[in-house]
Amino acid sequence: MPEKTYQPTLTIKVMKKIIAAIAFLLAGASAFAEQADYNIIPLPKSVDVDASQTMTLRSGMGIAYDAGNPDAARNAQFLRTWVEEATGIHLELTPTDKKAAVRMTIAAQKKLKKGQKLTPQEEEAYTIVVDKKGISISAASQTGLFRAAQTLRKALPMGEGMTEVELPFAKITDQPRFEYRGVMIDCARHYFPLETLKRYIDVAALHGCNQLHWHLTEDQGWRFEVKALPELAQKGSWREQTVVGRNTGVYDGQRYGGFYTQAECRELVNYAAERYINIIPEIDLPGHMMGALHVFPNLGCTGGPYPVWPQWGVSHEVLCAGNPETLTFLKTVVGELCDVFPSKYIHIGGDECPKERWKQCPKCQAKAKELGLKDDGKHSVENQLQTYINHEMEKFLSERGRDMIGWDEVLEGGLTERGIVMSWRGIQGGIEAAKQHHRVIMTPTTFCYIDYYQLKDQGAQPLGIGGYLPTSKVYSFEPLVPEDLTEEEQQYILGPQVNLWTEYVAYPQHLFYMLLPRLDAISEVQWCRSDQKDFDNFKARLPRMLKLYDRLGINYCHRIE
Ligand code: ACM
Ligand code: ZN
Repeated sequence: MPEKTYQPTLTIKVMKKIIAAIAFLLAGASAFAEQADYNIIPLPKSVDVDASQTMTLRSGMGIAYDAGNPDAARNAQFLRTWVEEATGIHLELTPTDKKAAVRMTIAAQKKLKKGQKLTPQEEEAYTIVVDKKGISISAASQTGLFRAAQTLRKALPMGEGMTEVELPFAKITDQPRFEYRGVMIDCARHYFPLETLKRYIDVAALHGCNQLHWHLTEDQGWRFEVKALPELAQKGSWREQTVVGRNTGVYDGQRYGGFYTQAECRELVNYAAERYINIIPEIDLPGHMMGALHVFPNLGCTGGPYPVWPQWGVSHEVLCAGNPETLTFLKTVVGELCDVFPSKYIHIGGDECPKERWKQCPKCQAKAKELGLKDDGKHSVENQLQTYINHEMEKFLSERGRDMIGWDEVLEGGLTERGIVMSWRGIQGGIEAAKQHHRVIMTPTTFCYIDYYQLKDQGAQPLGIGGYLPTSKVYSFEPLVPEDLTEEEQQYILGPQVNLWTEYVAYPQHLFYMLLPRLDAISEVQWCRSDQKDFDNFKARLPRMLKLYDRLGINYCHRIE
């Protein structure tokens, strides 16, 4: 009996001691604010840290910026929001306070020689200095200030209701390696609402991307409103049903569709521009056109009828190259596209255009004859017929001050004058185009197709298109190939891009699961010098990004291969 009364007394004593010890530890811990860590993704060009000294950031401190400039005000607001989101610390906007703890300024330009301009990468450069005066951010442009604010955001520790954080003294100087840093989204196989696209843009901006390639039309749906042709999107954006799985022959019986009004497109363009991302719209022509052919069957070689395609793959029904109405149609569509999207690049697709119909079609063959096209052993008549369409579109775009991008098939009939090649079937098309002094975006399936599986174990992932592209493989991509290109030719490689096709990706959760963390990997390919890259080091920096995704409620793949 005595033992029984003795035992609980001891337990209470021990518990009291433990509680006191925890309280002591907590009190002690609160004396040490959490520290910022500049080992972010993508890694800045140069980071000099003096860890022996720190600057303390706490609520109530100010951010100074150019009050007369709305872009500067927005960037200051972004920084304030991000600091609060990560730490709970609330900074004040104090534009004119020269002594503010955080100062965002446009740096005096270095003297440029006559006729010399900053490179696009220099335009985005920035410097952050953390010292006893606070945090000084300077850049050549507001774009640079935005990139710097993202860097600070990612360097901050994360937690609820922090009262202060310590930033080690540092000097960070940064600028991207490539001028073009793209991410593509296919909104034609599946439609994603504007809110999801804004999130996608936020995530792209977080990774320093500056181009969103927006794939808007497909066999499976037309998603861009054309005011002169209202039925095109109204009818062409809806498929009667969708095949279940990988072209099983079984269909779900559900009508599926939706399109983006021009007002919505403009809203997204502005949203992206405020985050220093340009939207490149793509109208995929003359193949991948069942959405349009459904509405205008007269534009096909056979006259139809054509359904908005309910299955995956490449339809051999394409626009008729011999029908003059085809070019009228395309110019109406692309004309309105140019009105809505200010992008200097406009993508006209050009991939996977089967030529069976053209070979049989009297109108197409008559057009080829009229143009005097002959098989020259390198380029077939039908491939040259496609080049004729490309030329027409390139001229049309060039009159509007725009440059045409096409998938690498545009090389097959001989490249148009100012066409930019998006090299997707490997890098060979890109190499060939660069040798011909054409600009190139590198997006080979082997490194950049993030619709592929990212884990070996397919059963551990949602159904996908196939393939295997782990984060490590994306990370290993080197877009410049000195063994194949001279230094001068390498200048034509604008940069790399990842592509997210969505045949098997129907929901936002899945979309971000496919995107992350492979976007982290490509962001270092896009941003960092190749000698900075080290996959183990990258992997060690990744958990802090994942923590940020958790905090923002963004899904990602938890396993990294
Ligand atoms: C493509 O993947 N068809 C460009
Ligand atoms: Zn035809």
